[in-house]
Amino acid sequence: MTPTAAISAAVLAPAAASSVCLRAGQVDDADAIHSLIVGHLADGHLLPRERDEIAVHAHRFVVAASGHSIVACAELAPLSRDVSEVRSLVVCDEARTFGVGHRIIDELVARASTAGFEKLCAFTHAPAYFVRFGFSIVPHVWLPEKILAGCRTCERFRRCGQFAMLRELRRAPQHCVPLAALHG
Ligand SMILES: CC(C)(COP(=O)(O)OP(=O)(O)OC[C@H]1O[C@@H](n2cnc3c(N)ncnc32)[C@H](O)[C@@H]1OP(=O)(O)O)[C@@H](O)C(=O)NCCC(=O)NCCS
Repeated sequence: MTPTAAISAAVLAPAAASSVCLRAGQVDDADAIHSLIVGHLADGHLLPRERDEIAVHAHRFVVAASGHSIVACAELAPLSRDVSEVRSLVVCDEARTFGVGHRIIDELVARASTAGFEKLCAFTHAPAYFVRFGFSIVPHVWLPEKILAGCRTCERFRRCGQFAMLRELRRAPQHCVPLAALHG
């Protein structure tokens, strides 16, 4: 299989943007995902990620591919049985404003709902972007899972400037309890 690459300087024409496909990440994508994240640490205030850790969790990523290039990615990371997190959302400069980020969030919402999570959260410097998709700004303490999983050991704990965003999910039908079952 040809390894994927992060897109280079070429501008993604609108026509090419419409042919961008979303798919699950694979171990072979680790280098491209890592390059995409590392290349946008500053403009996205993204947390750095290790290439090997990305490889281990590659299947949690949704990637947007244009030919053999990865133009965007995000991870659906479980924080607890009920809460999952949108992590490392980034769209390369050339593919922005074509709705790729929107499609990725929709896909993560669908995945999280199907997996039975009740809540999807994100920690971001771009709260207005997430508000578009039904997320609300909440106090950080509403997400103790995140504080335990990552914040407490972060050198920027309590001064990161990130907004905690939360979206309630509707569980997929197979996770609903039929009313009849409640009444015997
Ligand atoms: C934020 C980001 C993921 C958006 O990706 P995208 O594919 O361009 O987004 P979409 O095409 O789905 O949506 C574009 C719309 O969102 C708006 N938008 C983009 N960034 C925004 C932000 N930071 N805050 C509010 N709105 C934003 C655009 O103005 C555009 O608005 P319009 O439709 O009214 O013209 C992308 O700009 C990016 O990768 N930024 C750097 C990393 C980052 O900030 N990640 C998110 C935080 S974890």
